[in-house]
Amino acid sequence: MLDPARVRAVTSSLRIAAMGTYVPERRLTNADLARSVDTTDDWIVSRTGMRERRIARDDEFTSDMCLAAVRALERNGGSLDAVDFVIACTVTPDYAFPSVAARVQEQLGLRRVGAIDLGAACAGFMYGLDVADALLETGRARNVLLVAGESLSKITDYTDRSTCILFGDGAAAALVTIDRGAPATVLARRVNSDGAAGRELFQTGLRSEIGGVVSPDRYLHQNGRAVYEWALTNITAGIAELLAQAEMRADEIDWFVPHSANGRMIESIAKRAGIARERMLTSYELHGNTSSASIPLALAPAIADGRVKRGNRVMLYGFGGGLVECGMILRWS
Ligand code: COA
Repeated sequence: MLDPARVRAVTSSLRIAAMGTYVPERRLTNADLARSVDTTDDWIVSRTGMRERRIARDDEFTSDMCLAAVRALERNGGSLDAVDFVIACTVTPDYAFPSVAARVQEQLGLRRVGAIDLGAACAGFMYGLDVADALLETGRARNVLLVAGESLSKITDYTDRSTCILFGDGAAAALVTIDRGAPATVLARRVNSDGAAGRELFQTGLRSEIGGVVSPDRYLHQNGRAVYEWALTNITAGIAELLAQAEMRADEIDWFVPHSANGRMIESIAKRAGIARERMLTSYELHGNTSSASIPLALAPAIADGRVKRGNRVMLYGFGGGLVECGMILRWS
């Protein structure tokens, strides 16, 4: 096994130049859920920390939400003029194809740009950032429009109390660019996949069997306990590896932005890693688990209100269906 302390990060000087977010209007509270399944506000808050989530309209899809997030990014000062690549991170695309990225490109009127969807479930935004970074580092792109959006309510079984309490809808957009010659901003990174655990969290597609389980219903299914244990073990170890790569202590991290899967779970991970709760940015309280959108939904408001400042060391960590994970430590610029 590799000694994490000896793994050097592939550094880079990527920069998130602007961000924007969007969530649908309709709120689904714990009290609403308690009227349709056998659960209580107390149970949900004590197990997950979640209070409400947003639900897309029947005629509102992932590309619509991603487009709205890009419009917010423009209002926040982001310019699309020099965008030459669109990456859309999602596991709930409007269609199998065309891609969400192509829909967004078309509606924004972008010309001569590459467009791909990237499916890494709740690690989507982080994998998207990693791929954007590779395109920028190699000079294949100069300005990547990275969007992450999910319509999870459309694949959630609202009669299953163990999953319907967790998930919500939303989207975010980031303009990712590179400052060549500037000091490194990516101080550590880890990408990893554990496909053997794939059957613990899935939605079937053309194939309805996974790991001996047959599920033709096209809903999201999860073994919550198994995913919980997996995350606690693997993400805690992943954080230690990132810190070793960056030669930092946990208390030198200014902001920790884990995937907002479940408040209780990510607080346990932070505690094990030695990161104080006050230094965590989360979105689960009011948005539930929005998969690929959860990290930017937590990060964008903290950038907008000045909590995240230039020079801050920010650890971002996505993990989820696959099961896959991708974490980075960035020096904010
Ligand atoms: N309200 C009340 N009771 C519920 C419930 C709900 N919404 N959901 C499940 N229960 C019940 C179960 O039926 C079970 O009852 P039983 O003991 O009579 O069989 C009991 O609570 C315990 O179930 P369990 O699944 O062991 O609960 P848990 O403490 O593990 O909490 C999750 C369930 C889903 C909240 C938790 O496992 C979790 O969050 N896991 C991680 C999920 C996650 O983050 N996924 C995304 C990763 S990207």
